[in-house]
Amino acid sequence: MDNPYVFITRKVPAETIKAIREVADVKMWDHEDQPVPREVLLEEASYATGLFTMLTDQIDQELLDRAPHLKVVGNLAVGYDNINVEAATERGVTICNTPDVLTDTTADLTFALLMAAARRITEAERYIEEGKWVNWSPLLMAGQDVHHKTIGIVGMGRIGETVAKRATGFDMNIQYHNRTRSEKAEQELGASYVSFDELIETSDFVVNLTPLTDETKGMFNKDVFRKMKKTAIFVNAGRGGSVVEMDLVQAIENNQIAGAGLDVYEKEPIPEDHPLLQFPNVVCLPHIGSSSVETRMEMCRLTARNIRNVLNGDEPEAAVNR
Ligand code: DGY
Repeated sequence: MDNPYVFITRKVPAETIKAIREVADVKMWDHEDQPVPREVLLEEASYATGLFTMLTDQIDQELLDRAPHLKVVGNLAVGYDNINVEAATERGVTICNTPDVLTDTTADLTFALLMAAARRITEAERYIEEGKWVNWSPLLMAGQDVHHKTIGIVGMGRIGETVAKRATGFDMNIQYHNRTRSEKAEQELGASYVSFDELIETSDFVVNLTPLTDETKGMFNKDVFRKMKKTAIFVNAGRGGSVVEMDLVQAIENNQIAGAGLDVYEKEPIPEDHPLLQFPNVVCLPHIGSSSVETRMEMCRLTARNIRNVLNGDEPEAAVNR
């Protein structure tokens, strides 16, 4: 094949991928809501110089072994736990992602989840829809305050810092735990660095924003939920794999914590009959952290520019392994 060839694994707006068309032939999987079947992806990867991928595509050793021409993978996400980066690096394949452009939008959604769980927003809406609202009453749908409470952010990267900034507007006491200290969080936002144990034991809202790694896999387990305040609300907008979901189910069932707001799950989509979907005090969203029209369009454009740049021999705007 003479021209570079890029396969896009989901239907994305044509106007967002113009940058790729400047340098390569492009084929797009024709479905917006259906991941490309594995065998099609493997077949396409065997010709492709570039792949434009989603977090639902596994870019593993098997795929990389079958992709002799592959130079770049542009993943439409800031997270890249669906990609074997080490194997890609060994083969000289550049892995690109979409940091920064989604930071504010994902922080907004994280805060919305926190508020929805605290103030029982989705439960209250269902209450009206089900015709249950007969009267105003003093403790009708009484939730928990957000203002002046303690938020504990686990994973203080760009999104964590931006959630912390949101929290300052609610006069919250902000504490965080992270591998490294954040000068910005401490100096500009007044956040305190605490140990993981102190954070989970003393926070009213425990917010997970860590990426999924060997270190974070299953870190929110029964021991952790047991140590949380009985009034605590757990929010997860990082990755579902960081939580042992059945331990969370038990913590909710046994009233060890007061509720949860979840955007991500061990298995996505979360099965319809999953116990987490049965609790009125658990707000579940379908992994839409970065999903505003503006941000998703910008993520597509950035992914397209990343791929174009690598194929042109230029530096991509965001790469995780170079
Ligand atoms: C990401 O970018 O990693 C998000 O989870 C996608 O919304």
